[in-house]
Amino acid sequence: MRIDILTLFPGMFQGFINESIIKRAINKGLVTINVIDFREYSELNNKQVDDTPYGGGGGMVLRCEPLFKAVESIKTTDSKVILMTPDGYQYKQSMAVDLSKFKHLIIICGHYEGFDERIRTLADYEISIGDYILTGGELASMVVSDSIIRLLDGVINKVSLDSESFNDNLLDYPVYTKPQVFRGLEVPEVLISGDHAKIKAWQENKRIERTKERRPDLLK
Ligand code: ADE
Repeated sequence: MRIDILTLFPGMFQGFINESIIKRAINKGLVTINVIDFREYSELNNKQVDDTPYGGGGGMVLRCEPLFKAVESIKTTDSKVILMTPDGYQYKQSMAVDLSKFKHLIIICGHYEGFDERIRTLADYEISIGDYILTGGELASMVVSDSIIRLLDGVINKVSLDSESFNDNLLDYPVYTKPQVFRGLEVPEVLISGDHAKIKAWQENKRIERTKERRPDLLK
């Protein structure tokens, strides 16, 4: 998979690309990430990318031309364009699964007060990662990219993916490691029983219990 990220703040992606599982996925050739400063596509002499809004009001608005030029210069028939915006559709694990099937994603990070409404016509998907406002789409684009990349074949092992939260609309069950007692807190008896059927039933039950308590919306 190839992911092109259009941003005015490429420096924000240094840690994301150069650490841990994402770095390993890049080094193994499982994903290519290009962070592109779309200011370079501005035709204005001072490389300005924003302007004042029609109709007045405070703040600056991203102009159409740099983003249209950037997207048009990298888009192919294999590409899907994603716009990160707090008024997009709420991101979900099921969307990560769908998006992980594409060969090429172009992710646009908005910034400043907003962007010209016509920029939305570039997007196949408009995505919000949650009901809060970030200073820009950069962190959101990393959240979306991360959740997609970890699903690609060879990035992490299949067993980890199979039993995780949100598969079957359930949160994960609790896990423990050594020691058996830590500051008086004990590992549940059943997990050291060696009875695999019983352990499985306990885990399933814990998933339902935890989901009912914390995320009843998932059970509907
Ligand atoms: N840009 C600012 N806030 C955002 C959010 N919650 N989701 C996606 N993009 C954003």
